[in-house]
Amino acid sequence: MDQTKDIYSLNSKCPVDLDEVLTYGNEKKKVARRRWAILAKALKGVFVSSIVMKLYQINIDIWQAFDSAASPTGSQPSSPTDEISVRRISSFMLLKTQQLPHIPIASNREIVDVPDALKKRTWYKYSACIEGREYFVNVGHRNRTFSGNIAVVKHKPFSRLSMDRPSRHPTENQAFQAITLVGEGQSPHYVAGVLDLHHTTVIRAVQCFRETGTYTRRPGHRATSQRDDNFVHLSVLRNRTFTSCSVNDLLRKERRVHISDRTARRRLHPANLTNRRPATGPLLTRQQPCRLRFAREYSGWTVNYCKVVLFTDETKIGLRSPDGRSRVWKRAAEDLMGFNNTGNVCIWPSEETLSYYVCSNLAQFRDKTVIELGGGMSCLAGLFVAKYGDPKEVTVTDGNKISVENVQATLRCNDFQVPVHCEVLKWSQAGPRTPYNIVLCADCLFFDDARADLIECLRTYMTGDGVALVMAPQRGRTLDDFMAQSEMRGLRCEKISRYNEVVWERRLQLLDHEEYDDNIHYPILIRVTKV
Ligand SMILES: C[S@@+](CC[C@H](N)C(=O)[O-])C[C@H]1O[C@@H](n2cnc3c(N)ncnc32)[C@H](O)[C@@H]1O
Repeated sequence: MDQTKDIYSLNSKCPVDLDEVLTYGNEKKKVARRRWAILAKALKGVFVSSIVMKLYQINIDIWQAFDSAASPTGSQPSSPTDEISVRRISSFMLLKTQQLPHIPIASNREIVDVPDALKKRTWYKYSACIEGREYFVNVGHRNRTFSGNIAVVKHKPFSRLSMDRPSRHPTENQAFQAITLVGEGQSPHYVAGVLDLHHTTVIRAVQCFRETGTYTRRPGHRATSQRDDNFVHLSVLRNRTFTSCSVNDLLRKERRVHISDRTARRRLHPANLTNRRPATGPLLTRQQPCRLRFAREYSGWTVNYCKVVLFTDETKIGLRSPDGRSRVWKRAAEDLMGFNNTGNVCIWPSEETLSYYVCSNLAQFRDKTVIELGGGMSCLAGLFVAKYGDPKEVTVTDGNKISVENVQATLRCNDFQVPVHCEVLKWSQAGPRTPYNIVLCADCLFFDDARADLIECLRTYMTGDGVALVMAPQRGRTLDDFMAQSEMRGLRCEKISRYNEVVWERRLQLLDHEEYDDNIHYPILIRVTKV
């Protein structure tokens, strides 16, 4: 499941005109706004442009009216990512967000020196108002991010090796997003990080749009067909030591297609194939003195002496290159790309609705030990329990180190009356520990490879009479698969769609929304218990 698609893929097919903007609201607002501005600039005449800008102002007013209608709680979007993510319905807007003017160091901590980890973040207050009472948690967001993009930037050295290198050929959608974000005032480097494009690609796309008013690539001749591409992929998969020259020769001989070496390499990139030197084990240092001793001892030997000697203990045969380390085509390995980064993208709707559910049902956490698994960059639900649920203790976890660092910074900026621990916990490496009364988990069911580990982790960490509150959207078969597999592992699952009236109402409102897809957007609650 490509989650990033939810947030970032804006609909490029929408031509922008006033009527449509009024119909669809937010999403096209900025595009239209920019186009109005471009139009005004192009017309240059002061008089004409002032009329255009007036029209634009009228537009803005109507949009604002639309916005307040679209946000029933009247809240601001629930995370800094939500300028876009609300448009993509990646937020239920149940929690109100307010950017804090300064770092909200917890009152029970001594302020000697504010650590860098806190300074490097922008601080937000996430609050829910339930039955007249306000619940809030301060959460840090790494600066200048759509959360995910710092990690993307950090992975750049790896992505150079892997096939996920920044693309120089944006899709229509990416070009549209790049132009939108640059138009919103983001720098090309920043946008390149978010969309995993090369920054020159972003600059080119924006220039092209400014000059031509369109962002689609001019149709060009593609040297190879899809079948040629498949042929190239298969050839190197069959013979990993092929050079791009030999791939070329083969293509020319077999399919009579002429391409350059560079094109051959480019065709292999989308199939995740890069040309790399295979790793070899390091030489043991103790071999060096042995070799030296050997060389000294036999330095006087002639070739004829050596001919009759059979060397048995060490062999080095360079068939293709002097040290036998020719380059081979390799697929990018997961460990090169880093741990799953979805928790750093934003606070997902499931975490939001789970937080809301927690604040509405605080009594069930009293004197309980609680752990949150896969809590992402905020572990928001776990922190609400810690702050307001009066539990015995809370442990918040995620498998991603960057997420956990963010939560650790967040812990310094909130007051808790109970012990709160925060640590990296990968489900596959979950060691034995004292089980918990309540396990929380939001939007973690769509990892097909990790599902079994997650279930095992739930089973291990739940006390006999414990309960896991798992919140996740249906997302195709993933939720049902989770339930089926859990039941096979001796757990009982109860699926609850209508677990909170406010959330339910919000869902009903969203059902009419063009962009809303119940299947991937509505978080369902599963209560998991031991049989
Ligand atoms: C979609 S995010 C949800 C994050 C957060 N609960 C939210 O809803 O905002 C999924 C989270 O699961 C974590 N995750 C994925 N696989 C994991 C694993 N094998 N072990 C531990 N955490 C994992 C990711 O790091 C990520 O933070």
